[in-house]
Amino acid sequence: MKFAPLLLVASLGMSAAHAQPIPLEKVKEKAATCAACHGADGNSDTPAQSQYPRLAGQYHDYLARALHEYKSGGRKNPIMAGMAAPLSDTEIDALSRYFAAMPSKLDDLSRHEQGD
Ligand code: HEC
Repeated sequence: MKFAPLLLVASLGMSAAHAQPIPLEKVKEKAATCAACHGADGNSDTPAQSQYPRLAGQYHDYLARALHEYKSGGRKNPIMAGMAAPLSDTEIDALSRYFAAMPSKLDDLSRHEQGD
């Protein structure tokens, strides 16, 4: 019963921009499928994950664009094509915002300015 309004929105064929926002719990569930490679917080922190790009703290529109391009084939990577294929526009937007909002462990120049 909880999903009835969402199904109604889908059946009316409303565009993603007008769809209900995805509840945070659902976004977290989706993000869990990314965690093996990108880390739970998007920082690709473990040695095994270091081969995968960090998502945390990147611009959300950059992340969203990358996901759309993996889906369309504009950016080619067999792993990410498979991950992006089932995502709806709304899910891409939600996941991109989620990872963009995570505190990033990307290096910035301040670290090097401190003589590190
Ligand atoms: C099995 C490992 C794996 C999983 C799981 C995975 N990814 Fe990726 N992801 C990669 C790899 C490898 C790349 C780099 C691909 C390339 O070179 O374009 C990547 C790249 C990306 C990029 C582009 C980052 C950049 O800096 O350009 C985004 C965005 C992304 N992944 C999002 C996701 C999301 C969201 C999920 C979950 C729905 C996910 N990934 C799940 C392996 C994975």
